[in-house]
Amino acid sequence: MADPNPQHETRTLPYGAAAIADAARVIAGGGCVAVPTETVYGLAADATDSAAVAGIYVAKGRPSFNPLIVHVLDLAAAERIAVFDDTALRLAAAFWPGPLTLVLPVREDGGIASLVTAGLETVAVRVPAHRAMRALLEASGVPLAAPSANASGGISPTRAAHVLASLGGRISLVIDDGATEVGVESTIVATAGGMRILREGPITAELLSDMFPGGGREPVAMDGVTEPRRSPGNVSAPGQLDSHYAPRKSLRLNATEARPGEWLIGFGAIGGDDTLSTAGDLTEAAAYLFDALHRADASDRKTLGIAPIPSHGIGAAINDRLRRAAHRP
Ligand code: TXA
Ligand code: MG
Repeated sequence: MADPNPQHETRTLPYGAAAIADAARVIAGGGCVAVPTETVYGLAADATDSAAVAGIYVAKGRPSFNPLIVHVLDLAAAERIAVFDDTALRLAAAFWPGPLTLVLPVREDGGIASLVTAGLETVAVRVPAHRAMRALLEASGVPLAAPSANASGGISPTRAAHVLASLGGRISLVIDDGATEVGVESTIVATAGGMRILREGPITAELLSDMFPGGGREPVAMDGVTEPRRSPGNVSAPGQLDSHYAPRKSLRLNATEARPGEWLIGFGAIGGDDTLSTAGDLTEAAAYLFDALHRADASDRKTLGIAPIPSHGIGAAINDRLRRAAHRP
């Protein structure tokens, strides 16, 4: 929605050397920039500059209890801001660069602004694989705090156009490098006292379990079904708030055919106004999920429905996001 009093003229630049140099200047000046990662577009600012980080919260309208993920170029940079145990080192070796975020004890001397961790003793850190985010990390030379580049509670953006629709007029620059490849946010894992999945994602519970066969280190799923409901005052993984990733219209899950006036998102054999994957391919469905929700929200229908999605592999993350999208506070 257009802001009647835009604070910024939001520029969109195609990915390239000029865009990255421009973005690095914005970051150095304490601003924030929307930039794609392999999962979703992030809204990045210097994680060591509390005023810059505050700018992210302001642009998103995000409640300040919700901590942010810090992005760095490699494990060495991650080790300067967080304390790694053996499990964390194995996970980093296996999945970085890539869509895995580790929640680890924060190093006091690591320079991360306390606003990033929302005062927690842990920090969420990941090494992204996307060329644009990596080029920006390199050019700016600082760790970058970056939540998904959408207004708080909205659908995560997988295209520059989604960022503009949600944050246009509220940020100065978007780097456009096309649709993101993975399409759902990174898996979040904490390792202290055994491995726990705080948010399901592209690195699936199956993949994580396979790394620790029979070792009693199997991850415990912390998704909307098994995790106790959390309130804003008692948040250990605030992304687990009941309502999140929400379209504006009501969403009906497990729909096998469209009701009158409903926009149906199909999957596999169930067709519709749109489909996550006619072939029933879960990876393709994840990549297209938020795009489909954006399209559905923008359609002329009053309500939305979506076909059942199997819960194995990345389907667990898709269903986690769908349950949150369907939840009405
Ligand atoms: O794929 C992604 O992870 C994207 C891209 C941009 O990297 N980022 C993303 O950020 O999804 P965001 O802010 O939308 O989600 C970050 C999640 C939130 O649920 C937050 O509560 C959780 O990470 N988080 C951050 N720090 C935490 C911590 N110290 N302990 C537990 N959860 C934490
Ligand atoms: Mg988000």
